[in-house]
Amino acid sequence: MKIKQIVFGLSLLALPVFAQQPVYLNDSAPIEDRVEDALKRMTLEEKIAIIHAQSKFSSAGVPRLGIPELWMTDGPHGIRPEVLWDEWEQAAWTNDSCIAFPALTCLAATWNEDMSYLYGKSIGEEARYREKDVLLGPGVNIYRTPLNGRNFEYMGEDPYLASKMVVPYIKGVQENGVATCVKHYALNNQEFNRHTSNVILDDRALYEIYLPAFKAAVQEGKTWTIMSAYNLYKNQHLCHNQYLLNDILKGEWGFDGAVVSDWGGTHDTMQAIYNGLDLEFGTWTDGLTMGATNAYDNYLMANPYLELIKSGKVGTKELDDKVRRVLRLGFRTSMNKNKPLGSLNSPEHGLAGKRIGEEGIVLLQNKNNVLPINLNTAKRIAVIGENAVKMMTVGGGSSSLKVKYEISPLDGIRNRVGSQAEAVYARGYVGDPTGSYNGVVSGQDLSETRSFDVLLAEAVEVAKSADYVIFIGGLNKSNHQDCEGADRNHLELPYNQNKVISQLAKANKNLVVVNISGNAVAMPWVNEVPAIVQGWFLGSETGSALASVLVGDANPSGKLPFTFPMKLDDVGAHKLGVYPGDPTQLANKRDTIDVIYNEGIFVGYRWADMQKKSKPLFAFGHGLSYTTFEYGKPSANKKVISADETITFNVTVKNTGSIEGQEVVQLYISDKKSSLPRPVKELKAFKKVKLAPGEEKQVSFTIAKDALSFYDPAQKAWVAEPGKFEAVVAASATDIKGVVPFDLK
Ligand code: BGC
Repeated sequence: MKIKQIVFGLSLLALPVFAQQPVYLNDSAPIEDRVEDALKRMTLEEKIAIIHAQSKFSSAGVPRLGIPELWMTDGPHGIRPEVLWDEWEQAAWTNDSCIAFPALTCLAATWNEDMSYLYGKSIGEEARYREKDVLLGPGVNIYRTPLNGRNFEYMGEDPYLASKMVVPYIKGVQENGVATCVKHYALNNQEFNRHTSNVILDDRALYEIYLPAFKAAVQEGKTWTIMSAYNLYKNQHLCHNQYLLNDILKGEWGFDGAVVSDWGGTHDTMQAIYNGLDLEFGTWTDGLTMGATNAYDNYLMANPYLELIKSGKVGTKELDDKVRRVLRLGFRTSMNKNKPLGSLNSPEHGLAGKRIGEEGIVLLQNKNNVLPINLNTAKRIAVIGENAVKMMTVGGGSSSLKVKYEISPLDGIRNRVGSQAEAVYARGYVGDPTGSYNGVVSGQDLSETRSFDVLLAEAVEVAKSADYVIFIGGLNKSNHQDCEGADRNHLELPYNQNKVISQLAKANKNLVVVNISGNAVAMPWVNEVPAIVQGWFLGSETGSALASVLVGDANPSGKLPFTFPMKLDDVGAHKLGVYPGDPTQLANKRDTIDVIYNEGIFVGYRWADMQKKSKPLFAFGHGLSYTTFEYGKPSANKKVISADETITFNVTVKNTGSIEGQEVVQLYISDKKSSLPRPVKELKAFKKVKLAPGEEKQVSFTIAKDALSFYDPAQKAWVAEPGKFEAVVAASATDIKGVVPFDLK
């Protein structure tokens, strides 16, 4: 008996068990083989089931084959708390708090690709720990107008800077076996009428300004998913858009990942089938009102698609392509057995947030070297303003978070100065005392019954007796501010803050204004205030990062990723009157409204550079330090290059101050004469260098033909025309340190 058993056991072992294992289950087989194998085992119904949502944030797997569901999460600054199956409301879990990282405008302001990788790695680990497969971010829509309510989620106005900064973020996230979903592809540059705006622009602006960061995300970052936008282009919604999804993304760029619709962005089954959408999400906000056993079956790419196939009206070629892409996504994420474990709320993630914040904070102005605060002499610091205490991680739309902790600016300052100085607080004005989003509540009681005049008088009193006054205001995450779903109504600071700032400037000469926002704001008091700091939305470590810069533990090294215009009229889209489109079109019973980008390629500093009569309040690329830098005379390794050669520019930069600091050296290229109009100059390289006091380093930039090219719509190609060029070495778009002429043969 025993012997028989052994023999039987042996014979089982001897069976070629592994050889029989389906290819799709074999981790070591190439992904494409696994995809094909899984595809051929699936029924038509199973294929349909995996290309649309089964809940607010998940899509079905194939239970029969052991293929798991896919779980998505916002993004892009932290991992969103769990919501109910069919609703945006909280599921009331107690283990879904996260670390909030600085908003992406701040990341872009670091001009440091290492910070971007650190960001991606850290947030990717949080997503992984929370068992998410797709992180809905980062966003790289170009900053076209300072009124766009979602600018804080994006990486600024320059396609080169955004391209460089998006790639390491993607790598950092995807190394965790979590896909990024780069959004919102494309031309989603305003929130006003976001579902009905039909963007009209020329191909040059499309290729030179609005697409490069997405292209870099696909070709260099190798993002596994892309989120298509709500708006329209060429009168087709972007979630099923022949031109942008099929022709450019999947055709020209060879994207092999999955296109995920923005939530509720899908409108038409036939277009969804043929125009490049792979995964449909959020079509019915309340998924249970449609009368089927499962309302998700009524999604445009669910039963309606199935019926079209069954009736023979459409074939299965497009379906198989979508299924392949979704399976590929699964093998890269949910079925990836080699992914790390991830981690949540680790001290490392907090530190990462703090470092990114410190490097992204921009010192806009520092007359009389008011900053850093001198703790040897300062005994009393007045901290004024609602944003010194208000939680900023709750609100703002889909990027809203439930945080493990959020250090307010006031607490950050108090923690840092300890017993060395007293930090006295006065509110100064009342902005928005509420704080809740989809069931997450800040829990703060910011109610206030005193009048504005009383609050102002109190603030001025407190300011008078202080050694320093730190006003912390700006925008917040309420509707019509830095918030999804609507745009700002104007460029001004809200809640009468201008008046408070002017009064404080009269009360105390050591005034520092910290502007918390993801957007430019008007600063009519700029000449009255010695020091101005751009503080962004800094996440969990807001207070510690800010305090560290204010007292000089960290020497500021952030540079603006977008222009601060003096007034709205200094922005192309506003000067030309083409923002936000003509709303009477909707009133005239059209379903959509044309938003015409008449300013073309002249966005941000490209527009500002052309203006003779106005100059920006603060230029793109601007940011000061507590030390000073001296640039040498830039030079090139040749005077003439041919199209297949590279050219290298060198410049020395010396730290002439007494503390260590970092400088972002920027290289712009200027085409002196061309057959089509070109911007005065365009950013084509940058480097952040760290210098000890007295240290000098040589910074080198090597560029090739692509940095000299423009997109020629007639030829449908990038063209570098022979002629004269200049390399412009600069510390910002308006602070030019040297120019090197060269010729392209
Ligand atoms: C936003 C997306 C977000 C999605 C899911 C949409 O309203 O536009 O950015 O990822 O909701 O929350």
